Amino acid sequence: MHESIPHWDARFELGREDGDLQHRYFLNLVNRLAGALSDARGVARRAALLAELKAYDRFHLLSEENLMQRDAYPGLARHRRLHDELFDALSSREHAVSLADEATTVDDIVRFLVEWCVHHTAGEDRLYAEFRQQAAGR
Ligand SMILES: [Fe+2]
Repeated sequence: MHESIPHWDARFELGREDGDLQHRYFLNLVNRLAGALSDARGVARRAALLAELKAYDRFHLLSEENLMQRDAYPGLARHRRLHDELFDALSSREHAVSLADEATTVDDIVRFLVEWCVHHTAGEDRLYAEFRQQAAGR
């Protein structure tokens, strides 16, 4: 386990099985890739690892947005914007890695991904979970 990456805990549990599985997988993936990125020799290898992360991330964000659409979640447009910003930020890091930009270190990428897990999943995604719970209680 990369030292700055949190363990899965209750703040990430949002009460929907497939969503929780996806978030748990994302955290595992971040952890595995953090180790692999640190060991990676060469730009092509690092870029390939980030491409794997991006592919999973794209799938996960679309999956979440589709559920929000199904549930007529009023925060969907805002949430989609946040997803787009996160994805753009990840893409620009991937681009920097492919250009061998020294300033974009593995630590910077891991920090960004951990921020994402902690603030987006435990914050913004939780708002949607709360909306669903309220809708179910109506
Ligand atoms: Fe989200």
